[in-house]
Amino acid sequence: MKNTEARSMDRVHRIQAHPLFQELWKKLQDAEKDRIFCRHTMEHFLDVGRLMYIYSLENGAEIRKDVIYAAALLHDIGRYEQIAEGTPHDIASARIAEGIMKDCGFTLEEIQAIQNAILGHRKKESLTSEDSLTAYLYRADKKSRNCFACPAEPACDWSVEKKNLWIEY
Ligand SMILES: [Fe+2]
Ligand SMILES: [Fe+2]
Repeated sequence: MKNTEARSMDRVHRIQAHPLFQELWKKLQDAEKDRIFCRHTMEHFLDVGRLMYIYSLENGAEIRKDVIYAAALLHDIGRYEQIAEGTPHDIASARIAEGIMKDCGFTLEEIQAIQNAILGHRKKESLTSEDSLTAYLYRADKKSRNCFACPAEPACDWSVEKKNLWIEY
């Protein structure tokens, strides 16, 4: 890895190591360990980040790689709060993400853009959003799920249109 690339990921590594991120991610892993439907693991966060980065490369979008990975790492960080208290996790994630990103050196403009993308990640209309970060997060979040290989697929309440019944590429 080039030095510049290593530096550009520093803020992502700060999120990864942030005490609140670690605490909520671990609580979430524990809370979902017996869940048969989609879980919200580090694999999911990184699948989403990698797909988003592929979309940005395919479309020549000029979005910083660390902004993409920040959105991917944080978009479901409020899932534990949803399980424990009932807060919709897009709202909880956006609120929690703000404090973490402030601690990790993101600018106010970047924080707002990432919060907007997180708030849109459960809204179907985000797929056609003019804001690329929002559109890529929605699309990657759905396309990252391998419904075709999931034993719980028949019982899952995702619509047929939303389910990935074939390998998506
Ligand atoms: Fe989510
Ligand atoms: Fe997700």
